[in-house]
Amino acid sequence: MTAVMVMGLQWGDEGKGRVVDHIAQRAESVVRFNGGPNAGHTIPLPGGSKLAVHQLPSGVTNQDARLCMGRGMVVDIEKLAKEIKEVGVNPKRVLLDRRAQVIAPCHREEDGAAEASRGDKAIGTTKTGNGPAYADKYARVGVTVGDLLTLDGARSAAARLADSRPGRDKSLLTDWAEDMRVILDQTGIEVGDVSEFLIEANLCDANILFECAHGFELDIDHGDYPYVTSSSCGIGGVYSGAGFPPLEVEHVIGVMKPYSTRIGAGSFVPGFLDEQTNYIREKGGEYGVTTGRARKIGVLDLQRLERACLINSVDRLALTHLDMAMYLDTVPFIDLDGKYTVVAWHDLHSVIEEATGAAIQYISDGPQHQCMQQLFGEEGTDADVWGLR
Ligand code: IMP
Ligand code: MG
Repeated sequence: MTAVMVMGLQWGDEGKGRVVDHIAQRAESVVRFNGGPNAGHTIPLPGGSKLAVHQLPSGVTNQDARLCMGRGMVVDIEKLAKEIKEVGVNPKRVLLDRRAQVIAPCHREEDGAAEASRGDKAIGTTKTGNGPAYADKYARVGVTVGDLLTLDGARSAAARLADSRPGRDKSLLTDWAEDMRVILDQTGIEVGDVSEFLIEANLCDANILFECAHGFELDIDHGDYPYVTSSSCGIGGVYSGAGFPPLEVEHVIGVMKPYSTRIGAGSFVPGFLDEQTNYIREKGGEYGVTTGRARKIGVLDLQRLERACLINSVDRLALTHLDMAMYLDTVPFIDLDGKYTVVAWHDLHSVIEEATGAAIQYISDGPQHQCMQQLFGEEGTDADVWGLR
């Protein structure tokens, strides 16, 4: 019986896709439980091509893994149907929780309008409707996946959504909900209770992999509000978003880069020299998967990293973009006292492990599939996260 979680320790885009893909090869279920189409996870494939997933868990390449989408998600049904086709997954592998929230067209519009009205205080959202959909969830007027299982349910949920705010068109939303009911039905995915499924699977000794979207610095409660996303981007999401007992999670694998990146506004860490920034952006592929925006690039911040690991009980680390540390040769970082300092790239691992108390078990030193590797150390990491050698 093993349940493990993979999460991003920085501002998202740490390389969770490749780490989840690697670990998922031995998983029976891979679970997304927060966010929705605002996320973008890239999986490098063995032949050199890449796969990008936004709503499906990054366990898609393990044909035997169940792909669960928990109730903590906000789902865009149309985009999900498209993603299932484009990625080419058997829809029967997907189990979508009936309590997950559904993103409506008004949410996408309001996301864009809110951003425009904020002017230079804009958050820099992905404009996928994520924030407004969560706002309606907490206002208890949102449309759930379960509402779309019957015509009556779809219509009354659309009416509730339309009536909850001025300026929402009831007949448009009703048409939309009726369409979504049909699209959802046609996708061929299973709608059910992800919590019940996972608790049962856990009793049957299944290997369950939780994939947290975004990064801890974007967490609604722990990031620098309001420059955050609208969901829980850490261990708490396993309980609220998947309905799984958090104390059953055996390992929390934190994914990190030897530097920081951020898309969107909010506080950030000092940057590199221009030449280094440009090199990292191009060679490290630092452009948004969902929006294509160029990411801001700054140095590694050990104070933030330590906090992320503490709050989430992170015990294993995956260090990606190690090739960028090699390029830098001496890697600048903010130490635990908040001072700017440098370390030789080959000593970076001990600085990180000391600051976090977690062992580096995975590294990735290039963009290709084969650059993702697992390390077997002596203490603690002599087996992989599933307990296998
Ligand atoms: P939202 O999630 O679209 O509401 O955007 C809120 C903030 O989170 C913005 O700064 C986004 O750029 C950022 N964000 C959301 N999802 C991701 C992600 O998957 N990677 C990196 N940044 C993200
Ligand atoms: Mg991403």
